[in-house]
Amino acid sequence: MPLKIALFASGSGSNAENIVRYFSTNDKFVFPVIISNKSNAFVHDRARTLQIPSFTFSKDEFSDGEKILGFLKQYEIDYVVLAGFLLKVPKVLIDSFPNKIINIHPALLPKYGGKGMYGHHVHQAVADSGDTESGITIHYVNSNYDEGDIIFQAKCAVLPSDTPDTIADKVHKLEYDFYPKVIEDIWG
Ligand code: GAR
Repeated sequence: MPLKIALFASGSGSNAENIVRYFSTNDKFVFPVIISNKSNAFVHDRARTLQIPSFTFSKDEFSDGEKILGFLKQYEIDYVVLAGFLLKVPKVLIDSFPNKIINIHPALLPKYGGKGMYGHHVHQAVADSGDTESGITIHYVNSNYDEGDIIFQAKCAVLPSDTPDTIADKVHKLEYDFYPKVIEDIWG
């Protein structure tokens, strides 16, 4: 029986697409559904191209969690992968999927994490800091933003000439290279 993974994404969804494509020739994992909190997020277009049903739940439905839990049960989901998902995961989901929900953060946690630190805000903060490296952190999800146990980190150099956009490009490359492999390693 393949393991069923639900992808949660709030925005462009390039990581979600990269993960689905990586596993397209691997029958251990299937991706029956993509879930978002934004009905106009580009991830829905990607989902259509990938022929995966995608659904939007409201902020209130995400803070309550019960409806989403029922939905995941209906799809017999085993694991949840956050790929650019910006809301807090409700406690009821964390309790129902212990160590079965992971997130990717576009910096080297514990630096540049927490509420409001997502996407461009993170890369801007790194550029402003003068740090000479950034990277990615893949971690289990708990009830606090970006505080779950770290599974994997990878680094890239940050040069004085880098801008938030060029840092974002370097970080995205690390995300595409490593997120699918880490999923395969921990659950495969
Ligand atoms: C990714 O860089 C991901 O690490 C980040 O959002 C981007 C989504 O890109 N996530 C966070 O900042 C979570 N705090 P994508 O939609 O193209 O995959």
